[in-house]
Amino acid sequence: MRAASYARPPRADHTVVLETPDEPLWYDGEETELRQVLWSLATNGLRAMPTGGELTMGVRLDREKAREELVFFVRDCGCGIPHDELEQMFQPFHGSFRKGTGLGLAIAHRIVTDYNGRIDVSSTVGEGTTFTVHLPLPPAQGETRALPPGRTA
Ligand SMILES: Nc1ncnc2c1ncn2[C@@H]1O[C@H](COP(=O)(O)OP(=O)(O)O)[C@@H](O)[C@H]1O
Ligand SMILES: [Mg+2]
Repeated sequence: MRAASYARPPRADHTVVLETPDEPLWYDGEETELRQVLWSLATNGLRAMPTGGELTMGVRLDREKAREELVFFVRDCGCGIPHDELEQMFQPFHGSFRKGTGLGLAIAHRIVTDYNGRIDVSSTVGEGTTFTVHLPLPPAQGETRALPPGRTA
C-alpha cells in the first residue's frame, strides 16, 4: 500500500488533511482490504461531523517498537464516543449513525486482526475521536517491507 497523497473532501464544509512522510511507505497487504479499513474509519469520521469539520489521516512507520509497525490513523473533531460504548463499537450491528449497518468497524477489526494488528481508539465526547491502526511488519522482512517491492535497504 502506498500512502495516499491526495484526497477530495466529500463536502465543502469538510476538510481532509493528510499527514504522510516524504518517502513513500510500502506494506505488503491486500489493497482492497486495507482500503476498506481506511474507508470505514474515514466515512465514520465524516459522519461524526455532520455540520463539517476537519478529518486528518496519516501514516507513518514506527521503528521504536521491538517489532516495526506501519501505523495509520484517522482523526475527527466530531461528536466523540461515550466511554461505555467504546468496547461494543467493534461488535457487529452496534451503532448510532443514521442508516448505518453497524458492520464497518466489525469488518475493519476482523481485517486488522487477520494481519496480527490492532485498532486503538481514543475519544472525547464533544471533541472528537482518533482511530489508530497498527500493522506489524514481519521481523525478518521488516527492513524491506517498508520499501518498494524489489528494493532492499
Ligand atoms: N469517528 C466516530 N465518531 C463517533 N462515533 C463513531 C465513530 N466511528 C464509529 N462510531 C460509532 O460506532 C458505530 C459503529 O460504526 P460502524 O461499525 O462503522 O457502523 P455504521 O457506520 O454502519 O454505523 C457508529 O454507528 C457510531 O455510533
Ligand atoms: Mg461505519
